[in-house]
Amino acid sequence: METKAASLHTLPPEPRQKHWFWGHIPYLIKDVLHYLQSTQQEVGKIAWLRSKIAKICIISDPEYIKHVLQDNNKNYVKGNVFRFLKPLVGNGLLTSEGDFWRRQRRLAQPAFHKERLAAMSQAMVTCTEQMVAEWQQRYQDGDTIDMTLEMNKIALTIVSNALFKSDVKSDFEIVNQNLGFLVERITYRFRHPLKQIPLWIPTPTNLKERAAIRALEKVIHQIIAKKRAEGTRKENGDLLDMLMEAVDEETGERMSDKQLRDEVLTIFLAGHETSANTLAYMWWLLSLNPEAADKISKELTTVLQGKTPTFEDLKQLPYCRQVINETLRLYPPAYAIERKSVAADQIGGYHIPKDTNVIISSYVLHRMPELWGHDADLFKPERFETELVKKQPRFAYFPFGGGPRLCIGDQFALFEITIVLAMVWQHFRFEPLVPQPQLSLEPLVTLRTKENIRLKIRRI
Ligand code: HEM
Repeated sequence: METKAASLHTLPPEPRQKHWFWGHIPYLIKDVLHYLQSTQQEVGKIAWLRSKIAKICIISDPEYIKHVLQDNNKNYVKGNVFRFLKPLVGNGLLTSEGDFWRRQRRLAQPAFHKERLAAMSQAMVTCTEQMVAEWQQRYQDGDTIDMTLEMNKIALTIVSNALFKSDVKSDFEIVNQNLGFLVERITYRFRHPLKQIPLWIPTPTNLKERAAIRALEKVIHQIIAKKRAEGTRKENGDLLDMLMEAVDEETGERMSDKQLRDEVLTIFLAGHETSANTLAYMWWLLSLNPEAADKISKELTTVLQGKTPTFEDLKQLPYCRQVINETLRLYPPAYAIERKSVAADQIGGYHIPKDTNVIISSYVLHRMPELWGHDADLFKPERFETELVKKQPRFAYFPFGGGPRLCIGDQFALFEITIVLAMVWQHFRFEPLVPQPQLSLEPLVTLRTKENIRLKIRRI
């Protein structure tokens, strides 16, 4: 009994290497992905990091992850990184908590239902058709194409057209540059908590940051004003209609302009770079894997026979879906999810004190040989047909998170990526610029690359 009581207060084991004063944090900040992976390899399913400023625990086991994200989710609120997102996205779906979050999620959810997705897939097709036509004008066979930039453009166009019936094409540079800059600032604040200067102090960087937020707000206010002028629709409306039409059951009031701004900015942030990154990684992987490229060609020729995909066609493309799943496995844009414990808990027999920041990394889980086999680092879309993968526990693969805070846009993203893949592939192929190119990852709020992904475009 005594031993058991003692173990209830035992913290998880720690990695060996640590700074005499700062503990493990400098190593985590220096190279997040490598550190998370090597800690899992060295310490195992659960590890404790020493730090002067926070309690940090890394969990790398599907059952423990299920416990935090799903079974005992009430004890785990969003962690620190979301606090840093607040100056940008305020109290939107990604950052809000408790009853307020539940109400907002209930209001937004119908916009992502199956019937709505079928209607939105038409907007996705139209946006992609325009992009393909533009590429046909702009690119000669053998030209270099900046896939990171192009995929950011198309993902932003699709989100704004499908969910807000608004075309931000003319504002693309404003949204892309300012959002990009703000994401870098958020990451910096998160990684250097002691070097922070509050946003209200007018340092040159803070002023630039405030100007970037204002520029984004201007675009969003234009979208909202346009919708007000055109009139919102209760039935079969888009996400913005639903948010603007919603009436609070208790107060009878509509959502304030500030809340609408937070929700729209959240969707731009959460729904644009994640899909764009996945698409860019997918083209990169296909340029290096001619066998997978061939299989895609065969599937698309058989199912589509040269025509534009319909919503029904999209469900008949299992190999395309495997390629997308595999891309999200190797390069999950939301590579780490963070939660904070509200009260003390037990995970794997170890004590998790109140206010512990729990780090859960899909990047680590998705590459563990114990879960994926000895070839876990290789691109093999067919693995999704194997028994090994079919029998995996739920949280061996979670590019969209899980539990009640599962990504609201998961099906939207999968349809969007399939449409872009199917339509671009009917006109173009891609090759690497040099033999054996390298990808250098940059884990900011999402998993980016240090350099934009550039490929050689081939017209067919
Ligand atoms: C490949 C694309 C995407 C990936 C990998 C992705 C990933 C994720 C993940 C992992 C979460 C959970 C975060 C957590 O638990 O802390 C999340 C939440 C969220 N995502 Fe996505 N996402 C993608 C696309 C989208 C799209 C297209 C939209 C909107 C159109 C979107 C909107 C959201 C929102 C609003 C949340 C917060 C949901 C809530 O807490 O209720 N995401 N996403």
